[in-house]
Amino acid sequence: MNIVIVGHVDHGKSTIIGRMLADTGSLPEGKLEQVKETCRKNSKPFEYAFLLDALKDEQSQGITIDSARVFFKTQKRDYIIVDAPGHIEFLKNMITGASNAETALLVIDAKEGVRENSRRHGYMLSMLGIKQVVVLINKMDLVNYDESVFEKVKVEYSKFLGEIDIYPKTYIPVCGITGDNIATQSSRIKWYNEETVLEILDKFENEPDKNNKPLRFPVQDVYKFTNLGDERRIIAGTLETGKLKTGEEIVFYPSGKRAKIKTIEGFNQPDKMEIEAGFSTGFTLDEQIYIKRGEIGVNAKEVQPNVSTRIKVSIFWLEKKPMITKKEYILKIGTTRVSVMLEEILRVIDTSNLKTLQKKQRIERHQVAECILKTKKHIAFDISETIPETSRFVLVDDYEIRGGGIIKESLEDNRSKMRDKIFLRNNKWIKSEISQLKRAEKYNQRSTLLLITGEQQSGRKNIAKKLESKLFKEGRIVYYLGFGNILHGIDADLESEIDIKEHVRRMAEVAHILLDTGIILIITAREFTQDDLEIIKTAVDPDLIETIWVGKNVTTNINYDLKLDFPNSIENSLTRIIELLQVKRIVF
Ligand code: GTP
Ligand code: MG
Repeated sequence: MNIVIVGHVDHGKSTIIGRMLADTGSLPEGKLEQVKETCRKNSKPFEYAFLLDALKDEQSQGITIDSARVFFKTQKRDYIIVDAPGHIEFLKNMITGASNAETALLVIDAKEGVRENSRRHGYMLSMLGIKQVVVLINKMDLVNYDESVFEKVKVEYSKFLGEIDIYPKTYIPVCGITGDNIATQSSRIKWYNEETVLEILDKFENEPDKNNKPLRFPVQDVYKFTNLGDERRIIAGTLETGKLKTGEEIVFYPSGKRAKIKTIEGFNQPDKMEIEAGFSTGFTLDEQIYIKRGEIGVNAKEVQPNVSTRIKVSIFWLEKKPMITKKEYILKIGTTRVSVMLEEILRVIDTSNLKTLQKKQRIERHQVAECILKTKKHIAFDISETIPETSRFVLVDDYEIRGGGIIKESLEDNRSKMRDKIFLRNNKWIKSEISQLKRAEKYNQRSTLLLITGEQQSGRKNIAKKLESKLFKEGRIVYYLGFGNILHGIDADLESEIDIKEHVRRMAEVAHILLDTGIILIITAREFTQDDLEIIKTAVDPDLIETIWVGKNVTTNINYDLKLDFPNSIENSLTRIIELLQVKRIVF
């Protein structure tokens, strides 16, 4: 079981762990004597905390800087305990230390009482979703083991914790230095007859089984075999939650692509049929779908994740430079990295006292804020209430982690409706018995959408027609479809100009069907923007799209694969497009 010990600076966290290690016989032979000897030599009083504070810096200053991990055993099980630093400067290390914990011990000095980091750390635990909490009221010797002091601290702290939804299992009066109520019952604190710290830990449950949650498999990498004829692709990653079984249908988000698990691959070991949460693995699919690092695989029969570009989040900010609007940051969630901006701050909370500061324009260091983030590309995630594992993220700026948070809500963006339609379409799509791969082998080409766009009068249509003829003569299966052909047919019911997005969506759906037949589809349209392309990519596999800009000036923000300057001889343009098709292995 993973435990983290947190609390205000100097309230006795390291001492309590040192005592636990000593009293459970978990220290290496002679370690205790060795540390005592070192103290004697340097004529400084021995501290149990020295057993923990391994780093030199920490010993000389008597504080914990980085989180230390130590191991100890009881009769019931093995524990890993993370000693988190209590000083505000090291809040980031405290969060790192706590992020894997299943249980937390919150330490409060009986004499000093509840201090700002007692609250701040409590708040962080609640954000990280750590619900199994015990409060240790330490240094009881300094208050004459007085029950009324214990009660007073308990009342004050439980009121605070209640406001952030933490309900500790219990409060224990302890004395770190002498070990009272840690591993053994105290003879000095007579009025307390409940469990010791170790007894209560042994009663805790290991984290509610991650295996029982819906499957979440963030894709780490896709390995392709280079051997001729070996078309296998192995999708690799670690199961965040749930179980993975061969034969089950997996949907990948945000793309919404689906296929069945064919084999689970082991490295130099027999193949397995099933993998559990927490394990890393690789698997192959029954069909070649193109997916990339960053997608999340989920079981088609279970609760599906959210996909959006707008999220409501709780953020904690750790950097001196405040978090501001109109600046790009990197958001990392699971295996995805995406550019993100702060759209709006709803409220800022001072976690040391829970005061809410309204109408703030920026998030200062150590503050927590509820806000809306807008990502550049859509991301797949869950909300913290349902699956915390896939709701957590960190914010990066200048290659450093500057903050982190959890997603509370998925908000609508301008493509929500369209995405829903496409996920449903994929879900209901009746798959052909003939796979894309078989078609590609038969036709000697990979089905592709060639999007030829550019300024008016740039000659796109002419290029498209000639390209169609040339490819046809070479024996390719190719079709040229002008945007106008859709406008007056399939789109006849739409009032033109009004809903350009809907025109583009329908065109993309037509393209999606035609691409499924295995053909090379050429579409021309005037001045497509990146936004238009994003709509097309929602409906059509982005790996099947090649964008060609015709004309000297690029008048939109589109990211193209090939640019043909104008004027340019037709022959030369065709050669360059065909080169592109060869390089991308679309024709072979
Ligand atoms: P940081 O890691 O810096 O946040 O501090 P910490 O919470 O780990 O505190 P640490 O264990 O280093 O203890 C701080 C001081 O409190 C040390 O001098 C300890 O000897 C003292 N201390 C710890 N527990 C007790 C106790 O039960 N009684 C008394 N009197 N002193 C204690
Ligand atoms: Mg410490």
